[in-house]
Amino acid sequence: MSGSLHDKTVMITGASRGIGAEAARAFAAQGARVALVARTAEAIADLAGEIGPQAVAIPCDIARYWEVEKAVSNCVGAHGGLDILVNNAGVIEPVSRLAEADPKAWGEVIDINLKGVFHGMRAALPVMLAAGGGTVLTIGSGAAHGPVEGWSHYCSSKAGALMLTRMLDKEYNQQGIRALSLSPGTVATQMQREIKASGINPISQLDWSDHIPPEWVARALVWMCSDAAEAYLGGEISLRDESVRAAVGLT
Ligand SMILES: NC(=O)c1ccc[n+]([C@@H]2O[C@H](COP(=O)([O-])OP(=O)(O)OC[C@H]3O[C@@H](n4cnc5c(N)ncnc54)[C@H](OP(=O)(O)O)[C@@H]3O)[C@@H](O)[C@H]2O)c1
Repeated sequence: MSGSLHDKTVMITGASRGIGAEAARAFAAQGARVALVARTAEAIADLAGEIGPQAVAIPCDIARYWEVEKAVSNCVGAHGGLDILVNNAGVIEPVSRLAEADPKAWGEVIDINLKGVFHGMRAALPVMLAAGGGTVLTIGSGAAHGPVEGWSHYCSSKAGALMLTRMLDKEYNQQGIRALSLSPGTVATQMQREIKASGINPISQLDWSDHIPPEWVARALVWMCSDAAEAYLGGEISLRDESVRAAVGLT
């Protein structure tokens, strides 16, 4: 293998489609070994087959801590370590205003988008600390900073996930853990199809052509593993920022 991430192992949650699948292709293209995590076993198995022997598919529901712990141990067993965790898995449905929100379904979104990020950090940290360091990238959102109608679950979860990145930096920066969040803007994936179908807020009115391709997000994630992103450690990088796009090589 060759490339800037030769000899690194990357575990990507939500790798069955969208941003996560493109991230897996991009990291593998840089020579990394990849562990593909999602609930849909067939989709990650197909992607692992496409990428080749440097990929392993690990079916896992990130809402369950014991499954994430097992996924990390399977990744270490298959690839010999874990250098980079990409907390990407996330959901938006069900979209509903507060008075109509189903409390159980609302909580299940928190279980994935917020607790799932904690589960990834919690399970990966012992491995990374024992190895002397590691990188944890989490997909954030503009929804962490401002309310969007119908998205109380999503906005709350993304705000909490951003705090988890800041917490990780606060507690483990000195021990070699690089924690970063990436706010991508709107991206042409299944999630945007679901948002469009909801019809509830201005994001649902956007044209498909307004969204950036998931490949751009994947390239930004690879860039975030380089020294060029050091200035952002412990915080959030916005892919709407033209200077970031230029640094990543997208413009
Ligand atoms: N698209 C956008 O405009 C946009 C904007 C800002 C941020 N984001 C964020 O980007 C991330 C990726 O989203 P996307 O746009 O690529 O959406 P997507 O195409 O719907 O993909 C979501 C991924 O998350 C996985 N996932 C969902 N629940 C899971 C669970 N409990 N356990 C494991 N995997 C789970 C899905 O796989 P399975 O269903 O197979 O489990 C799928 O691979 C999300 O965190 C999202 O909030 C997206």
